[in-house]
Amino acid sequence: MKGIVLAGGLGTRLRPITHTGPKQLVPVANKPVIQYAIEDLRDAGITDIGVILGNLGRDDIQSFLGDGSEFGVEITYIVQGNPLGLAHTVGCAEEFVEEDDFVVYLGDNIHNNGVTDLVESFKTGDYVAGIALQEVENPGQFGIAETDGSDNVTRLVEKPDNPASDHALVGIYVLSPAVFDAIETIEPSWRGELEITDAMQELLDKGLAVDSHVIEGWWKDTGKPEDILKANRLVLDGRPGSLNGTVDENADVRGHVDLHETATIEGRAVVRGPVSIAADTVVEAGTYVGPYTSVGPETRLSSVQLENSVIVGESEISSDGKIVDSLVGRAATVTSASGLLPEGRRLVIGEQSNLKL
Ligand code: TTP
Repeated sequence: MKGIVLAGGLGTRLRPITHTGPKQLVPVANKPVIQYAIEDLRDAGITDIGVILGNLGRDDIQSFLGDGSEFGVEITYIVQGNPLGLAHTVGCAEEFVEEDDFVVYLGDNIHNNGVTDLVESFKTGDYVAGIALQEVENPGQFGIAETDGSDNVTRLVEKPDNPASDHALVGIYVLSPAVFDAIETIEPSWRGELEITDAMQELLDKGLAVDSHVIEGWWKDTGKPEDILKANRLVLDGRPGSLNGTVDENADVRGHVDLHETATIEGRAVVRGPVSIAADTVVEAGTYVGPYTSVGPETRLSSVQLENSVIVGESEISSDGKIVDSLVGRAATVTSASGLLPEGRRLVIGEQSNLKL
């Protein structure tokens, strides 16, 4: 079995972060989102992986993943270019997939239970495809699958007005090459994209068997800033923490804290886990880093109170106020304007920024 990881798209909902880089490289608990997908596939024994690239951040993704050997996999890059929909993306992988079955993993999704169960469920029958489902409270906002009593999918409905099921499609699929003919026959949807659900429905209309598997644990699509913070919370919650860096004896560090061996927590700094602090970052005296915060590499935090936030890295945060629920992109500077006249907040803000002051 092969794997394909979707790393194209525009990431419009994550602007301005995605003005300068692909969302699949945004770190969650100091690990780029796409790395979770690659590791899940590897852990399910899938090491032959095609990574689909769009126009945004192509070079960044290739230089991060390389040939895959660092992650124990072999990567083939496939260029999609413009994002014409998930089914179009899958279609781009036809030459790579050849006659194999394959797992499709959205490169901006994180699942805490991996893909092994879904793959095993698919292998138990004579299926042309398998989908992962999860129970949701608001099925009208998702793609919904209806199934018979034996987990065979009978119908897929996109955002139904009167949902007949509360099982939503999670962005992960097992497919066989039968899907490529189905993709050829479908038309773009109202939003101009070739939809994967339409291709799956085409398989069902032909009378072919599609398996469904209800996944355990959580999954998170990291398409929006609040989703990144939520995913960061979920991942940090499962971490035991390991204090490898330098901690001054006068620092107050409690809870699960991942501290890189080259990171430093200075005296009179307060850190309350779960927290992740990456390489060469310094938490200065008088700083508070509160629960569910990830601070990327080469960052200096001074006199700030930081909580439930993701700092991508290479930044200087030295505001004397409290910063909460925030996503700060790479190489940002947040300083305090106190003492300057007139009083007020001083901002240099890029296009499509989003501030709550
Ligand atoms: P989406 O989040 O649905 O799309 P997007 O990345 O364009 O984001 P936005 O809606 O904010 O503009 O995509 C899910 C995943 O699939 C993501 O990793 C990008 C990838 N993708 C492709 O590789 N090609 C495509 O044509 C599309 C639509 C998505």
